[in-house]
Amino acid sequence: MAICSRSIDKLATTKADVESKCPDVEIRVVPIDFSKTLDYSSLFNDKEIAENLRLIVNNVGYFKVCKVFEDDPEDLQRQIKVNLYPVTLLSKFGINSFKNQQVNQGYVNRFGLVSVSSYSAIRHYTTAGVYGGTKRYDKFLGH
Ligand SMILES: NC(=O)c1ccc[n+]([C@@H]2O[C@H](COP(=O)([O-])OP(=O)(O)OC[C@H]3O[C@@H](n4cnc5c(N)ncnc54)[C@H](OP(=O)(O)O)[C@@H]3O)[C@@H](O)[C@H]2O)c1
Repeated sequence: MAICSRSIDKLATTKADVESKCPDVEIRVVPIDFSKTLDYSSLFNDKEIAENLRLIVNNVGYFKVCKVFEDDPEDLQRQIKVNLYPVTLLSKFGINSFKNQQVNQGYVNRFGLVSVSSYSAIRHYTTAGVYGGTKRYDKFLGH
């Protein structure tokens, strides 16, 4: 299992928690801030992750209750960056990994890709225009 977060402390606590409940599971922690970088090489260059990946959960998301014309440019950029890029690039990485495993292993495994959307993707809120738009993207990419 590979887990991503901005906080090294939170990753360490979660790792210990999962290990105590599932001692057979090996946990890789990947500290990354998706609002600051588009370089996911620390995750993508790990051959063992790529060769064993079976399920991706795209849970990361950023939301600020704000009307679009009142929101500042940095915050708009953060919502777009955090809500669109990880789900896109991790989905691509996952699908490539799934395909390669099927070719290399010679048998068909089951794979899964979960992308967390929001009710804001289908219901219009004036204070969640950008967030809702990004979550609608996430919803459709998941299909
Ligand atoms: N909460 C709601 O009411 C609600 C409603 C509908 C949909 N959603 C969606 O459900 C998902 C989870 O929501 P949540 O409220 O549980 O969110 P959250 O607690 O703010 O974040 C979920 C996870 O994403 C990580 N994360 C957040 N920003 C990150 C960043 N810039 N770089 C790397 N990791 C980051 C967080 O870890 P760290 O903080 O340790 O980095 C946390 O583990 C999101 O996609 C959200 O849009 C939430």
